[in-house]
Amino acid sequence: MAWPFIDQMRPDQSTLALASIEVNVAALQPGMSLTVKWRGKPVFIRNRTPEEVAAAAQVPLDQLKDPVARNANLPSDAQATGVDRSAGAGKENWIVMIGSCTHLGCVPLGQSGEYNGWFCPCHGSVYDTAGRIRKGPAPQNLAMPAFTFKSDTVIQIG
Ligand code: FES
Repeated sequence: MAWPFIDQMRPDQSTLALASIEVNVAALQPGMSLTVKWRGKPVFIRNRTPEEVAAAAQVPLDQLKDPVARNANLPSDAQATGVDRSAGAGKENWIVMIGSCTHLGCVPLGQSGEYNGWFCPCHGSVYDTAGRIRKGPAPQNLAMPAFTFKSDTVIQIG
């Protein structure tokens, strides 16, 4: 008699799918990006060009509005360096971020704005190629979710 009740308590497949997702990024050449949906939010994945990585790396931390990495894969006090705003050493070209402006939650536009990072058209927040807030009303860098490379071409988010 208990079985039907227990069965209802199990998460269904759609719930499990939301917990973590795997994304194949093999087709993303440098300079390309894609947006996937995870836990109801857009997630930006971008394969940055060497120039975009270099532009992010050379910005002194004291020029940043938000010097904290906001990277769920690192300690909460990690600094927003170029590498700590990426997938890490050796994978600096990859950046994975929640696509929700830290001002009021609009979805910023990629490859846009003064730094060719992201631009939020709602109230003019400008993010650089590391997703760090540089101008406008947004208070924080775009948040980076927990993610890991399952292989060279597959990223698991969550
Ligand atoms: S929601 Fe992005 S600038 Fe206001």
